[in-house]
Parts: sequence; C-alpha cells; structure tokens
Amino acid sequence: MTIELASIDENVWDQLAGASVQSDHDLRYLSLATLSDGKVPVSRLLVLRGLNKSDRTLIFHTDTMSEKWSELSAYPKASVLGFSAEKGEQFRFQGTVELYAPSAELNQLEWNKLSVWSQNTYCGGPPGEETQAPSSVLQKDLQPPSDAALERGRLRFGVLKFNAESLDWFRLQRSDNRRAKFFYNASGGIENTGWINP
Ligand SMILES: Cc1cc2nc3c(=O)[nH]c(=O)nc-3n(C[C@H](O)[C@H](O)[C@H](O)COP(=O)(O)O)c2cc1C
Repeated sequence: MTIELASIDENVWDQLAGASVQSDHDLRYLSLATLSDGKVPVSRLLVLRGLNKSDRTLIFHTDTMSEKWSELSAYPKASVLGFSAEKGEQFRFQGTVELYAPSAELNQLEWNKLSVWSQNTYCGGPPGEETQAPSSVLQKDLQPPSDAALERGRLRFGVLKFNAESLDWFRLQRSDNRRAKFFYNASGGIENTGWINP
C-alpha cells in the first residue's frame, strides 16, 4: 500500500470522527441504503452519532418501529454514502449492520447520551404512520416529556452499528478525478487497496 492511499483512508476516518461529534460538520448526515422486502433499494439520511476508527464501525440511532429496522433485521447488508462539499470527496461504504435493541448495553449507553428533547422524538406515533396534523408532536406536548412517556420512547429506541467492509473513495478534481478502493479485514485493518479508474 502506498503512503498516499494509507493517508486517504486515514483522512476519511478522521473526517468522520469529527462529524460524529460536531453537529455543523460537512459529513454529519450520511445516507444509509438498505434493501426492502421486495428487493427495492431504500436510502435515507441519518445523523452520524459515533464511530470507532480501529474496528471501522459507525453508530446511528433510529426507531425500532421504522422500516429500516425491519429491513435490516431481515437483511443486514447496507451501504453508507457521504459527501464532503468542502473537499469534493465522496465516500461509499459497504458493510453489515448489527442492531441493538433496548435491552442491549450499547443501546442504554447511547440513550443516556441524548438530551431529553432528542429522547422525546421517540415518544410520538410510529414512523411512517399517516397523521391528520403535520407533526406527531402536539403543541401541548412541547414541555418536558413525563417519565412514563420517556420510558415508552426508550423502549422504541434502536442503535445501528454499521461495520464497514469496504470503501469506494472518489475525489472530484476537475480533469483529474481520483478514485480508490479499500477492503477492510475483520479486525479493521486494510486487507487490500488500490487505485481504480474514476
Ligand atoms: C438531516 C436529517 C437527519 C436525520 N437523522 C435521522 C436519524 O439520525 N435517525 C433516524 O432514524 N432518522 C433520521 N432522519 C429521518 C430519516 O431520513 C427517515 O426519513 C426516517 O428515519 C424514516 O426512514 P425509514 O422509513 O426508511 O426507516 C433524518 C432526516 C434528515 C433530513
């Protein structure tokens, strides 16, 4: 592996580490694509909540009543896509997702990191269900949620751990675009890498 390729990979994960703790970061919202029951690709944006550079994992939060949770329960393969406008770089990862339900220790750790207002987003109606009003949060509910409501939310809260298995990196630079592939092994090391035609 050349020094340049090693530093590209290093830089990708450093940028993502920044995005996992900085709400105004370029890469704070990543697209997660899954496969539906009918084998139709479905993508959506998620907040990057955490990351472990050494084992190549990304942490996302979601509702266990959402479509993505059932899609990933049935088929855990996923693709994560990010774009840094600042650097003109696209990151496309492929990997497998582990789901952490409310009884899991990681789930409880992540829940405890959230503000009450973020926890409150899990206390409304099931995602995707039709409603009469534009929001599931009623005006009267714009007060700190009760302990009982928060407990209902906690039981809906889910954590997704995305284990990156490969990265397809692309930098847009006018007439000299660059693209490289990285394959990670089970312990998070780079198994194989190389330049590819953009
Ligand atoms: C900027 C942005 C950030 C979002 N972050 C999250 C998130 O962290 N977790 C989540 O479950 N949904 C998040 N959403 C909503 C999802 O994109 C999606 O609409 C919702 O989770 C339903 O997805 P599903 O029906 O495919 O499961 C976000 C939406 C936007 C626009």
